[in-house]
Amino acid sequence: MSPLHVTRTLPEDATDAALRADVRDGLTADPKTLPPKWFYDARGSDLFERITELPEYYPTRAEREILLARAGEIAAASGARTLIELGSGSSEKTRHLIDALTSLAAYVPVDVSESALTQAGRALIAERPGLEVHALIADFTAPLALPRTPGPRLVAFLGGTIGNLLPAERAEFLALVRSQLAPGDGLLLGTDLVKDEGVLVRAYDDAAGVTAAFNKNVLAVVNRELGADFEPDAFDHVARWDPEREWIEMRLRARIAQTVKVPALDLAVDFAAGEELRTEVSAKFRRDGIAAELAAAGLELTHWWTDAEDRFALSLSVLR
Ligand code: SAH
Ligand code: TRP
Repeated sequence: MSPLHVTRTLPEDATDAALRADVRDGLTADPKTLPPKWFYDARGSDLFERITELPEYYPTRAEREILLARAGEIAAASGARTLIELGSGSSEKTRHLIDALTSLAAYVPVDVSESALTQAGRALIAERPGLEVHALIADFTAPLALPRTPGPRLVAFLGGTIGNLLPAERAEFLALVRSQLAPGDGLLLGTDLVKDEGVLVRAYDDAAGVTAAFNKNVLAVVNRELGADFEPDAFDHVARWDPEREWIEMRLRARIAQTVKVPALDLAVDFAAGEELRTEVSAKFRRDGIAAELAAAGLELTHWWTDAEDRFALSLSVLR
């Protein structure tokens, strides 16, 4: 059995410095914000896995349906020998693709969550002996130190995670992906689609409260890492559809006026009763819009597949 290679390109102290800077900037901004990549500590990754199993959270099931139906076509169109997956999480859906990519030599899952990466990597190696797995603990919004593996490369970015980037960040991100591809390489992108507001809001505000717990977990991360005294129960989870920007916006609303201390930053933050902290957006897409964003980054959309109910799309783009 081949070993699991794990490379950390995020030094522990760089993560710490980035967290401090993000929390200071976010909590002193108006309106207050906290950036999403800090959701995914070990508990956050577990809560996300539970979200994917919720009856209201359709994106995972819809994307799995497309992958199952189209894995053969994707494999034939890309001919990939190296599959790089950004924000791979549990890599659970990706297995269908890996199974179809018969010439695949290497799989490179990239995630900030070390716990998710090592669990997923071990499971894959057990299932597909001979496949080289190079797990990268890295931030996909920065240039990646990719291992030397054979081309063509296929970069997969699934789960609709691209919607968690703001439009300007998305443009930067796609340009960065493009800069790491050679002619003939591809990008397989999962995008959730614009649909009925009720369906969207329920997917981000489930009856069992798992998404609320996931949203509040970012407060627990700040408490643990920076010694803050956020009281998660003093905040309500809010998910709202913004029809102009076509995104779901997640917020945490202070139930009462309160002051939160962040000792590591020497900061005291006042919240008014009802004040909202923005934690995450999840943008929803239309075919023309995403094709234009890809084209602006030099990528040509060649395939577009949706699930039977047109809820979610997988697109394949190639570098000419
Ligand atoms: N692809 C999986 C998981 C999606 S959840 C699926 O479709 O189910 C988003 C994943 O991206 C999480 O595992 C999270 O840890 C990771 N992530 C979020 N921001 C990241 C960043 N900036 N760099 C690397 N990984 C990130
Ligand atoms: N990529 C997922 C999405 O946008 C992440 C996600 C699902 C999420 N539920 C969430 C992020 C709740 C924050 C809060 O669908």
